[in-house]
Amino acid sequence: MRPFIEGLLRNMQGGVCVVDNEKRIIVFNKAAQWITGYCADEVLGKTCREVSRSPLCDSACSFDKIIKKGLSRCNTEAEYLSKDDRPIPVSITAFPLKSHNGEILGMVEIFRDITEVKTLQTQLVQSERLAILGQLAAGVAHEINNPINGILTYIKLLLKKLEQGNLAATASKFKEYLTVMERETKRVGRTTQNLLDFSRRDEPDIRPVQINEVIEQSLMLLGDPLSVRNVTVTKEGKAALPEVMGDFGQLQQVFVNLFMNAAQAMPKGGNLKIKTAAEGTPGRECFIKISVSDTGCGIPKENITKIFDPFFTTKGGKESTGLGLGLSIVQRIIRTHHGHISVKSTIGKETTFTIELPTV
Ligand SMILES: Nc1ncnc2c1ncn2[C@@H]1O[C@H](COP(=O)(O)OP(=O)(O)OP(=O)(O)O)[C@@H](O)[C@H]1O
Ligand SMILES: [Mg+2]
Repeated sequence: MRPFIEGLLRNMQGGVCVVDNEKRIIVFNKAAQWITGYCADEVLGKTCREVSRSPLCDSACSFDKIIKKGLSRCNTEAEYLSKDDRPIPVSITAFPLKSHNGEILGMVEIFRDITEVKTLQTQLVQSERLAILGQLAAGVAHEINNPINGILTYIKLLLKKLEQGNLAATASKFKEYLTVMERETKRVGRTTQNLLDFSRRDEPDIRPVQINEVIEQSLMLLGDPLSVRNVTVTKEGKAALPEVMGDFGQLQQVFVNLFMNAAQAMPKGGNLKIKTAAEGTPGRECFIKISVSDTGCGIPKENITKIFDPFFTTKGGKESTGLGLGLSIVQRIIRTHHGHISVKSTIGKETTFTIELPTV
């Protein structure tokens, strides 16, 4: 058996280090030498602590667990120091070395260099962060695009009036235009602030929120785009509903996106109906159900499963600014609120988005 076992140890990819009951190294295979940079002759007879110089030896020594506490196996990750003082992250499996009659002779440690795994893990975390950052940047662009377009239109109007001369006659128009520009600029500010707040937190700032208030404020933000498109707004439901657990700013983003989509689906005007109701027995309501319906173009069957995908848009025309991010942001926000969103649509007739949010 001896040559067989020696061959086995020599060819193993994992480092094998066997210590006796005094923690002295009695076996140190080839892979252990490659990983640590020590030759077997340099370490045989020394204690494992002297060789690995790992902080783990003080806090969570495998030897203590296996020999003193009698565990049958112990898996850990640690950092050894190589001969030239390089830190080497390793994953270790340790188990007792027993004789035929069960007497404990020492401990076997099999360890693997996981430098590459660790590097990949760090890279993954970094790229995930970058992806989120990218999504967020796109989100910011999306939310500020509309007011910026508005401001630009009014700047063009102002310039045109200036070119036409006769300042006295147009002074009152100037005031009107500047007021709109001021309001839209403030809206950009609010949006970026909202999104910045959103990006700073991992978790939304969840507190009791009156959903009707969120809807009112979202409608206020969209007042002009709705009336310009001849969209009438109908609201149904009790004024006093139980509060939901939510982040006001994020929920506002949800409704702004849904109302915007509805308005865009009704270029010739139509009705936007918002219904709110509590689900469950009075006094013990568990969900608030909100439905947002429009009498617009509807969504073709083949698109229904795609509309929540990031970057899916049918508003890709020259004039259009659709990025296809609205509904993916909506879905992400509803999910972080432990809610649900669904959609029903009849082509050429109507579309209804229904949201359920848990009550306080
Ligand atoms: N109320 C609706 N009626 C008809 N189609 C809709 C409605 N809401 C969404 N859609 C469809 O779903 C697609 C995706 O919507 P989403 O809000 O994610 O992106 P978008 O509106 O195209 O662009 P963005 O919101 O980024 O400006 C839309 O392009 C449209 O085809
Ligand atoms: Mg949209």
